[in-house]
Formats: sequence, structure tokens, C-alpha cells
Amino acid sequence: MQFSTKRGAPEMRATPCLAVGVYAGRKLSAAAGALDRAAQGALHEVLGRGDMEGKLGSTLILYRLPGVAAERVLLVGLGEEADLHEREYREAARAAVKAAQETGAGMLTLCFIDIRAGRRDALWKARQVALVAAECAYRFDSMKSKKSDPRPLAQIELLAAARDAGAAARGLRQGEAVGAGMSLAKDLGNLPGNVCTPAFLAEQAKKLAREWKLGVEVLERKDMEKLGMGSLLSVAQGSRQPPKLIVLNYAGGAKKAKPVVLVGKGITFDTGGISLKPSPEMDEMKFDMCGAASVLGALRACAEMKLKLNVVGIIPTTENMPGGGATKPGDIVTSMSGQTIEVLNTDAEGRLILCDALTYAERFEPDAVVDIATLTGACVIALGHVASGLYSNKEALARELLAAGDDAYDRAWHMPLWDDYQEQLKSNFADMANIGGRPAGSVTAACFLSRYAKKFDWAHLDIAGTAWKSGKDKGSTGRPVGLLTSFLMKRSGKGH
Ligand code: BES
Ligand code: MN
Ligand code: ZN
Repeated sequence: MQFSTKRGAPEMRATPCLAVGVYAGRKLSAAAGALDRAAQGALHEVLGRGDMEGKLGSTLILYRLPGVAAERVLLVGLGEEADLHEREYREAARAAVKAAQETGAGMLTLCFIDIRAGRRDALWKARQVALVAAECAYRFDSMKSKKSDPRPLAQIELLAAARDAGAAARGLRQGEAVGAGMSLAKDLGNLPGNVCTPAFLAEQAKKLAREWKLGVEVLERKDMEKLGMGSLLSVAQGSRQPPKLIVLNYAGGAKKAKPVVLVGKGITFDTGGISLKPSPEMDEMKFDMCGAASVLGALRACAEMKLKLNVVGIIPTTENMPGGGATKPGDIVTSMSGQTIEVLNTDAEGRLILCDALTYAERFEPDAVVDIATLTGACVIALGHVASGLYSNKEALARELLAAGDDAYDRAWHMPLWDDYQEQLKSNFADMANIGGRPAGSVTAACFLSRYAKKFDWAHLDIAGTAWKSGKDKGSTGRPVGLLTSFLMKRSGKGH
């Protein structure tokens, strides 16, 4: 998909398809009004026949409007003007792109900068248009023998007034970079566990590093043994696939500037181990590396936007399998930090690989560490598929991430990390247990991680409910690449 901006009057734009908004009650947006005047009331006449009321997300295509240079005019329902917030704006843009995709038009010109989206500005709107378009264009067919037909729609153009043109162009570029990061994360998430193995993820990281000039290092089992990563290795020991610890480095900031470290859970398949999961929907545990995928996607977006800051990505990756050598319930392992862990449930493996990765993060003297993990089913129960769970040992960092999520329309909700919950992790035999029982399962998982994040400002995103969709639209969502890139953009001083 290609993106561009254009100035000028809507009626004069010679384009295969021109999209303008119509509010509820057949009220014309400014751009639609301009077309109607040029066409001497032709829009009013069509609307008067009752083919479109202006309901949010509805569309109607008109051909050969007199006095209008576009080949097609696409009317897009916006709903009530007063109700037009971020979600509605994105929905209208999505409806426009989808309708244009069903035509033979190779390009869609949108008059969408003047449409309200809560209190958002032209930069935000343009970014969202690019993101929504990338979402609509996304296909995952690399594992099908018959590929889906290429869609004619290959270009998106935003019509903007002179005062908004600069912001619109920048917004499109940002949206394009973030959209590409999300598509990368989706592709990796959607690939099956027999393809997307720890070794495959390491290869993808190396490829990304080559393409975007990132530093990359892959630690092997023997390296992890030397570092004393007994917790991470205890998860890997039931699998025939060798584990990897991937370290990526994006150096866009000053040499001495402390980096933001992103840590992504990379369980390429989670059977539960000896604490085997039940069969229904177990296939979805191929998505248990979506945290890792979001780190790769965010780094790609940073590099494309040339953000002025330093970011380190750490990805602990392994399968969680019930092989003959697998960890058994009751086994006690020693983490790199020296703290011992009684593994009461081998299905609580995410925290076991993340804790060693967090300890490893200390060597980068981070400004902040954010880990991203499909960590608990309990988080899905708490927040559903709308918000990711956010935990932090630093209030200011939590606020930054919440705001980034709002900005990207990739929201998180702040959850408690009070000491009162720590008691649930008590073990009779080791420094801690790896589970805290049924109550507040997402909170106790975060509490476990907090014990390995004492030396830096740290936040944890539980994306179990947001990283993928189930059912007929089953597939990776690319979240929270939007939140992460917004966060990094703000930190680097770009975007707002
Ligand atoms: N990867 C799962 C979490 C998960 C489950 C994400 C379902 C999305 C949907 C994680 O490794 C896990 O199995 N967690 C256990 C923890 C429990 C044993 C304390 C869970 O949530 O059941
Ligand atoms: Mn598990
Ligand atoms: Zn898991």
C-alpha cells in the first residue's frame, strides 16, 4: 500500500475513487457539500431517494457525478456528528477502504482530515487512516497453496487543506511504519508452531537486523547455562527444539543515552508441559510468542521512523513441551538472579523464561524495562479482549504507557501490584512458587515478575486477551505494537 497527501478542492480531484463523509440524517460533511454544489444538488437528490441515511460504517458508490472529476464518489456514513470519537473515526475509515477494495479502483482518495475524531488533530487522523488501510490490506496466505488474488487498491491518498498538509504527510508516514511493524508481528504470530520455532524467530531477528541495521546477538543453550539461567532452561528441557535468547539493539539515540529495554515472551508453542493443557483450542497456543513478535514489530517501526533513542529488544524463546526430560511439578530451579523457584505448575512457564530475561536486562543499565507477554488466562477473564493488563513498579512509567495506549487506540488498563498479593507466591520449599492460586492470577503473575525487576523502572503488559482473536476471525492482531511505538515516539520527542 502506498500513501500520499494532496491539496485542492474535492470536486477537482481526478481520482478513481473519492470518499466523502455523510452524517446521520443525510447531513453532508464539508467535502460532500462541495461535491453536491459542483454537481448541482445531485448528492442531495440521491440521498433523498433513501439509499443512504448516514449510519456509521454504511457506504454507497456513485458513478459519473456531473461536475465532479472523480470516476467514483464513495459516500461513507459517519453517524451522529456529536458521537464521532476515535473508534467511530477508525470505523468510518475502515468502511471506506473496504468498500473501495471491492471495486476496481487502484487508488482511494479520502476527504477525511476535516472529519471529527474526538479532539484529535490531523497528524493523528492521518496516522490512523494509514493504520486502518494497512489492516484492511493484510492477508496471511503464505501457508496456503492458492494465494488470495491481489487487490487492485494499492494507493491511499489523503486530501488535506494547506494548513494540515504537512501534518497529514507525517501522520501517513508514521502510520505506514507502525502498520508494517504490526504486519510483521501478525505474520510471526499467525505462523504455526512447527514453522515458527525458537530457531526460526532467531533467523527472523537476524534478517530484521540486516534490513534495518540493528545489532543482534543470539545466545545458545550453553551460553545460558554459563549465565545460570536455570529458570529459562527448565522450561526448554522438555522440548527437542533448542532455546534461544535473542538480543537486538537499535541505536538511534546518543551513545551514552540509557536504552529502553523491551522483553517479549517467546513461547513458540505452549502445551502446558507436564501440567498439560486440555485439548480444546490448544492450537491457539502457537500465539504464545506474540510478545516476542511485538518486540520485533516495534523495533522495525523505530528503525523505519529513525526515532532518536536507544532500544534493546530481549526475546527469551523456547517451546513448552512435556518431553521425557521435562520439568515436573514440585521441581525446584535456580534463576539467574539466584532466587529459587518451586515449579508447582509447568504451565506457568512464561514467568519462568521472563524472569531470567529481566535479570539479563540489568546489564544494559536501562532507563526503563517493559515486558510484553501472553501471560495469563486470568487476564482474559479480567479485561476480555479490549484492554491489555498493565502493571508497573513506577507510577510515572505506568502513566506514560497508558497515555501511549490511548493515543494509539491500543489501550491498556492499570492493574494493582500491591504487596498484599505477594503472599500468594509463598513456597514451603523454595524462595517462591511459580503460581499463586486462582484468585487474581494475572496480578500474582506480575508479582512474580516484579521480584526480578527491583533494579530498574519496570512495566509489564499482559496481552493474553489482546494479542490474537479466536473464532472465525482467528488471527494475530499485531497488538501492542501500536502502544509500544507510541510510547517510544513520545520518549524520542517525535510525535505527541
Ligand atoms: N500462555 C498461557 C496464558 C494464556 C492462556 C494466554 C490462555 C491466553 C489464553 C500461560 O503460559 C499459561 O498457561 N498460564 C496459566 C497460568 C496458571 C497455570 C497459573 C493460565 O493462565 O492458566
Ligand atoms: Mn502456559
Ligand atoms: Zn504460555
